[in-house]
Amino acid sequence: MKTIKTGILMKTASIFFLTSTLLLGQSRWEVPAEAKDKISFHMFNEDMVNEGRMLYESSCASCHGTPTEANYALMVPSPGDPAGERFQKQTDGALFYKIKTGRDQMPKYEDVFSEDEIWNIIAYFRSLNPAYVQPVPDLEGIEIPTFDVKLSYDENVDKLVVKVKTDGEIEAGIDVSAFIKTMFGKYPLGKTRTNDFGIAYFDVDHKIPGDSLGNLTAIAKVRKGYGFDKTTRILPMGTPTKPLSAIAGRHLWSTDDQAPLWLDIIFHATIIFIWGAMFVIIYQLRKLKKLA
Ligand code: HEC
Repeated sequence: MKTIKTGILMKTASIFFLTSTLLLGQSRWEVPAEAKDKISFHMFNEDMVNEGRMLYESSCASCHGTPTEANYALMVPSPGDPAGERFQKQTDGALFYKIKTGRDQMPKYEDVFSEDEIWNIIAYFRSLNPAYVQPVPDLEGIEIPTFDVKLSYDENVDKLVVKVKTDGEIEAGIDVSAFIKTMFGKYPLGKTRTNDFGIAYFDVDHKIPGDSLGNLTAIAKVRKGYGFDKTTRILPMGTPTKPLSAIAGRHLWSTDDQAPLWLDIIFHATIIFIWGAMFVIIYQLRKLKKLA
């Protein structure tokens, strides 16, 4: 009798032990040691944070919610809040690894985002943590080029022209990406590399609405190795657009002086009629009461 009981007890204990290790094992997400130590070679800045926020809002917020509000989706394992301790106590490298490789319901972003873009998202996460101090990369022996970037617009071919000099020299093969600033963010014109003359061209659709003079703000970003630069210039690349009130010519009743006379008359007559009717009813009710 005694032996059977111990047998059952042993079995129950081992099953319990097995399932709990399985569950625990599942919820722990191991990151290889060398991946944990990976750091960004660019100090996080406002530009990276803004870019990261945009990527987060379009690609991650549906599951991870609004950071600091812990309104992430109900899933097992839980996605968690990027501003919370669970994310913030991890190294930059661990976050990088997890975003890159994914697991189960957490998608793998390796083929979706460039490394720069993943770092931008991490820069955004870290901007939510006032206690975070970024590890400084050891740049000894690494050369960081400086750039001289000039933007212009060639109206004959509708192209944005980006001329790049690297450490004062013309160089082919420098990564250049260009954007047009919009009310809500940036409209990408594309990514390319400089040609043998150190020039990168981008097609611009001149139908894009500019200000009253057709001006648009062009942004060019250049990168080579650990060097990075961003230049902005206002150029007459768009179609001149008169600023219009959002409701102009659309709502008949949005302002009084836009309403036609017939509408005015009907409107006021209706109000007078309603008030009149109410007085008549009240008067009749009083009469009724007196009679009673
Ligand atoms: C479809 C839902 C979904 C989307 C979209 C999503 N995630 Fe996740 N994420 C999850 C889930 C679920 C987990 C928990 C996975 C686990 O522990 O196995 C997770 C975990 C993570 C982790 C690890 C958290 C930890 O505690 O270790 C990071 C970092 C992360 N996500 C970042 C992102 C980023 C950045 C994006 C957008 C580029 C994103 N996620 C998009 C569902 C999602």
